[in-house]
Amino acid sequence: MKLRGPRQQARERDAVDPLRHYRSRFAQPLARDGREAVYLCGHSLGLMPLAARALVLEELEDWARLGVLGHHESRRPWIDYADAAREGLALLAGAQPVDVVAMNSLTANLHLMMASFYRPTGKRTRVLIEAGAFSSDRHAVASQIEWHGLDPARELVELRPRDAGGTLAAEDLEAAIRDCGEHLALVLWPGVQYLTGQAFDCGRIVRAAHAVGALCGFDHAHAIGNIPLELEADGADFAVWCSYKYLNAGPGAVGGAFVHPRHSAQEGLPRLAGWWGHDPASRFAMQPGFVPAPGAAGWAVSNPPILSTAPLLAALEIFRSAGPQALRRKSVELTAYADALLAALGGQDIEQVTPTQLTGRGCQLSLRFRGGRERARAVLARLEQDAFLLDFREPDILRIAPVPLYNGFEDVWCFVDGLRTALEATA
Ligand SMILES: Cc1ncc(COP(=O)(O)O)c(C=O)c1O
Repeated sequence: MKLRGPRQQARERDAVDPLRHYRSRFAQPLARDGREAVYLCGHSLGLMPLAARALVLEELEDWARLGVLGHHESRRPWIDYADAAREGLALLAGAQPVDVVAMNSLTANLHLMMASFYRPTGKRTRVLIEAGAFSSDRHAVASQIEWHGLDPARELVELRPRDAGGTLAAEDLEAAIRDCGEHLALVLWPGVQYLTGQAFDCGRIVRAAHAVGALCGFDHAHAIGNIPLELEADGADFAVWCSYKYLNAGPGAVGGAFVHPRHSAQEGLPRLAGWWGHDPASRFAMQPGFVPAPGAAGWAVSNPPILSTAPLLAALEIFRSAGPQALRRKSVELTAYADALLAALGGQDIEQVTPTQLTGRGCQLSLRFRGGRERARAVLARLEQDAFLLDFREPDILRIAPVPLYNGFEDVWCFVDGLRTALEATA
């Protein structure tokens, strides 16, 4: 069958894409009917790097072969296994390797960071977050406030966008920070908002927070591996992330954290400690005094989960090889291409929630159905039936992410064409 022009053009763009070979380094999931899916759900769960299987198997083999000796004698000794992730994470976080650490999970890391960096004193007790923050972040912040014997109804400040369900203006965030002023202890902000896909200028937020004497931390779940980050240069106090989205490390994989060196260098900073955060040079002396490991590793509490860190190592190697700048370039081209195709659909049925300017987004695009929830559900069902894997957030948001590592222009073309068909079928 002769292809219609635009699809052929999409294929031609894929054919000259210098990153096209990376797709074959990931397992391609199947739709429910057994066809290869058009996978646009990397904002939720990234695809499996094929190399992850071999790395996990090697750890299982080494465990079987060596038992406890594997801590020191396996191919990648478990004793300092998590250190192998630091260089790759640092590259994506915009930090020095010593200032990042792979550990725990996102929410657990958020609690550990807040134990050190949310220390309400005197008037300075408030935490500023976005209204509509990811539920786990809100629970973590509210429970930290209560943990200090304070009332979230007073101390948790939630900034709403001007238009309900819309994106947030940087000036409004700065104004909210100024309004809190000397009452503000911490700003906790996402690098990319999970629902709208809006990306923020992190440096600008840090500067505004620091100007009123508050600290500033980030939830980079949807940012790391998606947009360029400069945590250290921006002066962020801390950041946390998970690695199962854009980092492709697998369901529930080990999370990560960044701590700015001005804090890790500070002696006596309160923290919730465990033996894996103790200086490795004397960790096994098992003495009562806690001597923090240098950098962010001083916040680790437990020995690392080897089987969930192995896929992260496989994925970080792919990032290193592809290069973050090249990935960002392709990401920008893919989303611009999606914009152009979506615009041709006309705006009657869907509205793009994600900002269109490039600095205001990563690869996620959030589309709101104007026809409401029932229509949205019907369109989603049709798209799923047509082998698209994407996701829907109540009440009316469809999220897609053309991920530059494994998606191409033809995926974007197919999605918009599939959306057009689904909209027509449900009109
Ligand atoms: C923005 C954001 N914050 C927090 C979480 C919770 O992560 P975890 O279950 O790894 O703690 C998620 C999970 O998807 C998320 O997207």
